[in-house]
Amino acid sequence: MPTDADFAILDEDLPAPAVGQVIAKVDTLSVDAWIRTTLSDAGMHTTEPLGSTIRAFGVGQVIESASEKLAVGDWVYGQLKAQTFALAADEELTKVEPEEGIEPSAFVGALGITTGLTAWVGLIAVGEVQKGDVVVVSGAAGAVGSCVVQLAKARGAYVIGIAGGPHKCSYLIDELGADAAIDYKQGGVKEQLAKAAPNGIDVFFDNVGGDILDSVLDNLRPTGGARVVICGAISQYQHLDDVQGPKLYLRLAERNASMRGFVVSHHANRWPEASSEISQLLRSGAMKLPEHVVSTVDQFPEALMMLFNGKHIGNLVVKP
Ligand SMILES: NC(=O)c1ccc[n+]([C@@H]2O[C@H](COP(=O)([O-])OP(=O)(O)OC[C@H]3O[C@@H](n4cnc5c(N)ncnc54)[C@H](OP(=O)(O)O)[C@@H]3O)[C@@H](O)[C@H]2O)c1
Repeated sequence: MPTDADFAILDEDLPAPAVGQVIAKVDTLSVDAWIRTTLSDAGMHTTEPLGSTIRAFGVGQVIESASEKLAVGDWVYGQLKAQTFALAADEELTKVEPEEGIEPSAFVGALGITTGLTAWVGLIAVGEVQKGDVVVVSGAAGAVGSCVVQLAKARGAYVIGIAGGPHKCSYLIDELGADAAIDYKQGGVKEQLAKAAPNGIDVFFDNVGGDILDSVLDNLRPTGGARVVICGAISQYQHLDDVQGPKLYLRLAERNASMRGFVVSHHANRWPEASSEISQLLRSGAMKLPEHVVSTVDQFPEALMMLFNGKHIGNLVVKP
């Protein structure tokens, strides 16, 4: 687990933007689990060199521009990193259009590539969820998980969320509309799943890996066709050189099931469809993503560690 002592806060002067560059004032940064993997030399998403600025997706507003594509006042999304102001080439940024009912921070939340679009791609493009499916989501009270629960409900599935603690389980049922919730910290996940889904599970959206993955494999629908979607495995990110794989993978063969991983960037052709469905759900009030806001940028390391101790609900963001 990283500690505060591993990070430093530096003050630096920014040069004026060169041709094709802008300076954006960072509004909201998304604190995502993949960032942890860039701080390890086993790097699953490449390793950040020591001394560099921590990578993070964010939204911000252009305050200086030497670009023909982006003007002062434009809202932009991209790799703004853990800092208060970002100097970036216009081609690295995407212009976004906040509107009534859709705040700028939604572009790192329900409409964010690593949050809502990840949920949509995993559940719909990869998991091929159908009306009436029994869907199980791990890490269900987090950013991606909260979106998966609501998208699965919107598609007519029966949804069971797995999260740590009674408060998160109440959130899943009372706030997000999940049909059932399992507190993995109480133990007995396999037995609790057997009770909640007596005929078996059709789709498992896995954010956590480890023992939870095995517990679900043991409860896949016996009559066949279940889809296990590997989105992530946050229980393994502190020891990527010694990952615990599924012991019960033979259930896939026994139950004529499949397991498939994905990375959201490989499905960019589906993002417009995903954004359109999510925007509609946001505007109609059928979907929401609460933010857990940490201020200011010097709290970024602490926020990153919160992902691993489960202290947030919904989308964890830093407002620099
Ligand atoms: N495939 C892709 O393209 C893609 C893109 C983006 C994100 N992801 C993956 O999506 C997952 C969710 O990311 P996120 O940014 O939305 O994070 P998040 O779910 O908001 O936060 C992580 C949550 O994981 C749970 N957790 C942490 N350690 C755990 C453990 N040992 N066992 C069980 N639960 C644990 C904690 O909740 P509890 O309190 O419930 O323990 C924590 O709140 C991650 O695995 C990430 O790598 C994949």
